[in-house]
Amino acid sequence: MTTTAMNTVLTSMPNLKVRRIGVLTGGGDCPGLNAVIRAITKTAIYQHNVRVFGIEDGYLGLIEGRVGELSSMHVSGILTRGGTILGSNNKVSPTHYFTGYDENNQPRIENRTNDCLRTVEEHQLDALVVVGGDGTMTCTAPLIEAGVPCVGVPKTIDNDIVGTDITFGFITASDTATRCLDRLHSTAASHHRVMVCEIMGRNAGWLALHSGIASGADVILIPEIPFEIDAICDFVLSRQSHGRGFSIVACAEGARPAGGQQIVATRDETSPEPVRLGGIGEHVATLIKERAKIETRFNVLGHIVRGGDPVPRDRVLASLFGHRAMDMLMAGHVNQIVVMRDGKLGAAGILNVANKQRTVPMDEPLLDVARSVRTCLGDRSTY
Ligand code: F6P
Repeated sequence: MTTTAMNTVLTSMPNLKVRRIGVLTGGGDCPGLNAVIRAITKTAIYQHNVRVFGIEDGYLGLIEGRVGELSSMHVSGILTRGGTILGSNNKVSPTHYFTGYDENNQPRIENRTNDCLRTVEEHQLDALVVVGGDGTMTCTAPLIEAGVPCVGVPKTIDNDIVGTDITFGFITASDTATRCLDRLHSTAASHHRVMVCEIMGRNAGWLALHSGIASGADVILIPEIPFEIDAICDFVLSRQSHGRGFSIVACAEGARPAGGQQIVATRDETSPEPVRLGGIGEHVATLIKERAKIETRFNVLGHIVRGGDPVPRDRVLASLFGHRAMDMLMAGHVNQIVVMRDGKLGAAGILNVANKQRTVPMDEPLLDVARSVRTCLGDRSTY
């Protein structure tokens, strides 16, 4: 969609009649998705007399026409459960559908927007509620352009959606990462080792920063502050010389050395977003071992932080977001995403937050908090 088209997207449709809606969960899953599905479904049925249709596996189900009606019974008992009863997918978009490999072994990709529109028409869906991150919001563009009203709900453990201070799933993921770092702490202390722990978050350091601060990590490496390995080694050696023989390094998967690149674990060319980060934790551990000559181990938390049941605050946030999405839809406020700013619910244009990432700004107060308790941020700025 062109910038001009984006700017002219209709965001208010006061005469929109909503009788049937479709709900999908797109992108990587996260704790709290079921709480949102429940809030949307129950609010739609009980408060607005609207029928709800669950779309399986994100946009894949929309393309393939895999849709089923949700009753209040379907969503009963799911509030506290991790994952998503609808299934999710982070490898497909309406304009990017992988159908196999061609004779040169290159992925064959097709635009299946028309299939999505056919599914919407067949099930007589008046609007879609899309629950996802920036990729999922980007996928709404061809649908909005074709006149399908959409409302977005911001989810991701990465907390990197532009326009909102918080996404649901992040609180649970940082809680899980914190507890893992706590566990590494005791074993690192017993063995006088450095423990490097790689934590998801894509190009944003929110997860590593929050869990690093919450667990009292000695070093926190985030993509927004390129690290100098010598600064890290000097720091752990200085801790050693002051009687602290161990150090914990919370390392975001997107962290990178000054003047260097992020480490890509795998590329999936069948996916609209082919890069999967990973490997920086092992790399940092190897460098510390070699240069500082301290015994060092690494751990990769990976998908552990994405799984499991949502903590109560995520359940509340997800319920708030789901309820607000239905309110917006019924008021005709479409093609917008629910956001939370300064503790208040609000809305932003879906296409204004699509395809962008909210990274940690250099004036983020938590960076100062970290430095003031003598946490090394991978540079030489610690007080
Ligand atoms: O966006 C959520 C996230 O978990 C990122 O933190 C991570 O980089 C990515 O998804 C992993 O994707 P996949 O589940 O495809 O390995």
